[in-house]
Amino acid sequence: MTTAKIIADKNFEISEIDERIYGSFAEHMGRCIYGGIYEPNSDFSDDQGFRKDVMELVKELGVTIVRYPGGNFLSGYDWKDGIGPKENRPARLDLAWHGLESNQFGLDEFMAWANKTNIKPMMAVNLGTNGLKEALDLIEYTNVKAQSKWALERVKNGQTEPYDIKVWCLGNEMDGPWQLGHKNAKDYATLAADVARGMHQIGENLQLVACGSSNRSMPTFGTWEETVLEKTYELVDHISLHTYYEDLGDTQEFLVISTDLDYMINEVCNVADAVKAKLRSKKTITLSLDEWNVWNLSRFQAMERPKEWLPAQRVIEDEYTFKDAVVLGNLLISILRRSDRVKMACIAQLVNVIAPIRAESDRPAWRQTTFFPFAYTSRFGRGKTLMTRIEAPTINSSRFGDVPAVDSITTYDAKNKKVAVFVVNRSLTETIDTSILLSGFGNLEIADQITMSSNNWMATNNAVNPNNVEPSKNITAEVEGSYVKLKISPVSWQVINISVEETK
Ligand code: AHR
Repeated sequence: MTTAKIIADKNFEISEIDERIYGSFAEHMGRCIYGGIYEPNSDFSDDQGFRKDVMELVKELGVTIVRYPGGNFLSGYDWKDGIGPKENRPARLDLAWHGLESNQFGLDEFMAWANKTNIKPMMAVNLGTNGLKEALDLIEYTNVKAQSKWALERVKNGQTEPYDIKVWCLGNEMDGPWQLGHKNAKDYATLAADVARGMHQIGENLQLVACGSSNRSMPTFGTWEETVLEKTYELVDHISLHTYYEDLGDTQEFLVISTDLDYMINEVCNVADAVKAKLRSKKTITLSLDEWNVWNLSRFQAMERPKEWLPAQRVIEDEYTFKDAVVLGNLLISILRRSDRVKMACIAQLVNVIAPIRAESDRPAWRQTTFFPFAYTSRFGRGKTLMTRIEAPTINSSRFGDVPAVDSITTYDAKNKKVAVFVVNRSLTETIDTSILLSGFGNLEIADQITMSSNNWMATNNAVNPNNVEPSKNITAEVEGSYVKLKISPVSWQVINISVEETK
């Protein structure tokens, strides 16, 4: 049988894990908000119209921060339409998704929902059709306690204390020609710097995110980040990156696709650090991977757009397969591996729209296959990441050359005395006999082993069969001294959560 070795040592740390890497994204798109998060008059909803079953699943998913309100929707959105008495709110055209936005759910509803769901907000300002003035009004509304117009407006709308929102995205995908108000890097950078300066004059300890590239294939990838950071370096904390991955028909290539994310993260860090050097700055820019997921994008691009302007039309309600879940688990390994630089990450999106949670009005919400690796990574992947050496057979990828069949990362949660080892087997055929050497931890005891393994790579959960794919909780791994030994099936993802002794 093929063998692999994974080695981690308590003393070789990568970084503290920022819990905001377990973020998500709620856009006014399709049925993410309307019919997902918010469905007034439903038996499943509370008195504010929030789906209680969805809120429970959001908590179970372990989401820490949610980016709102978009997405491409953001670039045509006026946040002022979504506040105040609901009967006075105007319906508007949503140009991004060719829909009708009722504005019945807006900023105050989002904050009430976030509060109930115990998540932090990551707010975004429209830099497509709006600019400095609207952004300043917005942060006055959310963060200021004063006898001023927008602060008083918030009080009038029932929120006495400021929301004090700390994390703000300066626009969305401004490098993309599809974006309303798309700009070249220089023009965006000038606007983002102006807006950042103004926002810092109002808010304290804000963390601002400058728009990076919409994906690694953008012709401006790299030069965009360079130009934007040259102008905004001391004003922002994070640069964003977005990336979606799909199965283009070659399962083996799809299974190693997280290699692309590894490259992308390294490349964005390299550009940011080159700007740091040029500017002789002491500060290091960190990364906000504020849209990532598996998404059958080609299918979406080939689809006809809706003809009529209607509210909450179904858009990209992808049904995720078992193999999508394995790839998603691997993407989380990539994110954890760079926890030194990736400080926020948002699985896009949260409900219905390419989402781990699905909801229909006539039945309880359910978990997609991709729900599980996310939920268990968020639950067990806490504390610090440890350098994780992998010795494994390789797969020859036409895109990436030789890549290891096994990918893995180890986390150490000193407070709870737990080590978690996340492991994915990307081979289509080989069961791999794997030894994990954990040095420096004393006695080891397996507390949990969560495995996603199946012969049916196309299996899904859906409205009719919501529990078809579920992870196994059987403990098959065995401890032998400082080793954990297990056999990992082809096309599988798992986490082994291990109790360790307190060691000096
Ligand atoms: O998440 C769906 C869309 O993908 C977002 O609106 C946009 O930012 C990205 O292109």
